[in-house]
Amino acid sequence: MATSLPIGQIHETEDARLIGLYAKREIAIVRGEGIHLFDSEGKEYLDLFSNYGVNILGHAHPAVNAAIKAQVDALSNCHSSFYNDARARFLDTLGELAPPELSRAFLCSSGAEAIEAALKFARVVTGRTGVVATRRAYHGRTFGALGATADKKYRDPFLPLLEGFSHVAYDDADALGAAVDGGTAAIILEPIQGEGGIHVPSADYLAAAQEIARRAGALLILDEIQSAFRTGSLFACQQGGVVPDILCVSKGIANGFPFGLTLVTEEVAGRIPAGSHGTTFGGNPLGCAAATATLTALRDADLFAQSARVGAHFLDALRGLGSPKIREVRGRGLMIGVDLRERATKYLRGLQEGGVLALSAGPTTLRFLPPLLLTEAEVDRAVGVLGGLLKK
Ligand SMILES: Cc1ncc(COP(=O)(O)O)c(C=O)c1O
Repeated sequence: MATSLPIGQIHETEDARLIGLYAKREIAIVRGEGIHLFDSEGKEYLDLFSNYGVNILGHAHPAVNAAIKAQVDALSNCHSSFYNDARARFLDTLGELAPPELSRAFLCSSGAEAIEAALKFARVVTGRTGVVATRRAYHGRTFGALGATADKKYRDPFLPLLEGFSHVAYDDADALGAAVDGGTAAIILEPIQGEGGIHVPSADYLAAAQEIARRAGALLILDEIQSAFRTGSLFACQQGGVVPDILCVSKGIANGFPFGLTLVTEEVAGRIPAGSHGTTFGGNPLGCAAATATLTALRDADLFAQSARVGAHFLDALRGLGSPKIREVRGRGLMIGVDLRERATKYLRGLQEGGVLALSAGPTTLRFLPPLLLTEAEVDRAVGVLGGLLKK
């Protein structure tokens, strides 16, 4: 194992050589094992953020690592204009788990790319340009995805964006219905809003959105980039009985290997012209091998059921804190937000000092997107640390 550089040198180099786009935390993470991360000074942390929801099987997962190592020796890259065995294996594994209606895939390497493809497919299939998105939505930072993303802080520096996007209140089917018209190509929604603060909509919202889209001849795009895998089923929308026309996945699918995909129905696929979209790295065998191993491990260990169970325990434990500083605890499975009456930053720092890494979602919401291997005992430890901070 390589020895870490001294922390001072890591700070100096990154600060001098990277564009200052990210608000940095001061520690340097240099190693991961299971649900734990280690910094350059050897301090251990319970990972309850999993790199923004990416490492769903934790770190250095033996089966995923073995699959990547075997594939890198066989073939690491193979453009999608050639057939490839690792890609076919991945598609077969996904096909066994995903709703059968979503039978065709475009493969890429990130969330924003999966969204970009979805928006382009909606335009080309419907011949329309309008897209109705929601307030507080986050769909990524490329120009198309940014059109659907709501936050002014991300949008305003880059105006003008693509035309045709509008935003309505989330979980308000009437507002959605009023915004959709004959020029609407697609409605785009997160089944549970992530970056916007972990908002779970009412049980019939996605079905209502689907009906509104269907009646207007528009498509329903669901962005499951954050919500897939961790809410008790492969996709969160399955719990509402909804299968969209287009569904976007990324983050956890290859447990940290950059991977994304846009799934579409047979009907949508049939109307996408050959050669109208593409990307060099999409469907590369290394990513496919990592994704096959990740999906296989999820399925074999039934981590969907475990996420639902441990997530319910997590929500109960947070609610049980009964702190006046907590406005609301929201979430489903292992996608959890704690909306505070104060800014979240101080608590994130306190958790980190107490050996627990979490995230924020907006100024006042603490967000937990842990690996799905999380146990009830680890939940209790983390909630204990948070409880101590809330009493101060
Ligand atoms: C719901 C959702 N959509 C899209 C994205 C964009 O994904 P990426 O950062 O891989 O471009 C994210 C990232 O956080 C997300 O949470």
